[in-house]
Amino acid sequence: MYKRIYAVLAGLALVAAGYGQSNTRTYTIGMSQCNLGEPWRVQMNADLRAAAANHPELKVIFKDAQNDTLKQRAQVEEFVSSKVDLLIISPKEAQPLTEPVARAFQAGIPVIVLDRAVLGDKFTCFIGADNKKIGKAAGQWIAKKLGGKGKVVELKGLMTSIPGQDRHTGFREGIAGTDIEVIFEADMKWLEPDSRKEMESALSRFDHIDLVYAHNDPGAHGAYLAAKAAGREGIKFVGIDALPQEGVAYVAQGILDATFRYPTGGAEAIDAALKIFKGEAVPKQIVLGTRLFDKSNVRAGGERLP
Ligand code: FRU
Repeated sequence: MYKRIYAVLAGLALVAAGYGQSNTRTYTIGMSQCNLGEPWRVQMNADLRAAAANHPELKVIFKDAQNDTLKQRAQVEEFVSSKVDLLIISPKEAQPLTEPVARAFQAGIPVIVLDRAVLGDKFTCFIGADNKKIGKAAGQWIAKKLGGKGKVVELKGLMTSIPGQDRHTGFREGIAGTDIEVIFEADMKWLEPDSRKEMESALSRFDHIDLVYAHNDPGAHGAYLAAKAAGREGIKFVGIDALPQEGVAYVAQGILDATFRYPTGGAEAIDAALKIFKGEAVPKQIVLGTRLFDKSNVRAGGERLP
């Protein structure tokens, strides 16, 4: 009799343990963020965290590469040797991160590349906005604003990263065939202090500048500060990112003339990770949309670009 009760209890315990197990399977995601010195990257991590918080089975381990490519390569290797279930990376530079990402992928770890692309196709899924399209839209907006003619400074994002390259190429396409002249261009590496310094050089070399196109809002803001400190008025500033508390606020305050939203992709990356864990297919590329914010629409929340 007792034996039978024990057997039944033991059976129930096994079932309960099995049930518990299938419900408590956790997945560890390693996230390598290229730096946390820029507000946009802090936002990306916050977006990832918020989306993951809705899924208690997910555990995200964040690493900050502090804008150091070698450190980021090492982080990817650490995540591989600690056998995370999935890797998310927002790489600093394309070429040097391509190989460690490919090795993780070939070791069987699904890899989601966020915002800055790597080369080749050895990753599971790339998520990001179309930087060529954003650059082109910025070029067209600028051409229209300046009536097809004017002297422009281009302050570029890190040119060893794909967004820097694409925001440049797209912009040149956008102003092609107009009388807009790029009188000064420099790589400010996405950084506000570098941008301010480059703009000081541009201001000392050129008496007349109509507009600054910077590849991100910190860059546009750095240029604005340089012009303000030099007492140069009447220059327009255009950036990219459009964080509510940064670029959009600058447009609302009249510091920037326009900015284009560059979504972080944090929530989409968690969605893709969940699909991968369920064994569902994810597209190789997920392209995120953009919005334009300028004086005419900033109060209404900007305007979606087709
Ligand atoms: C942040 C940042 C953003 C920019 C993005 C491009 O590091 O510079 O301002 O839009 O990276 O990858």
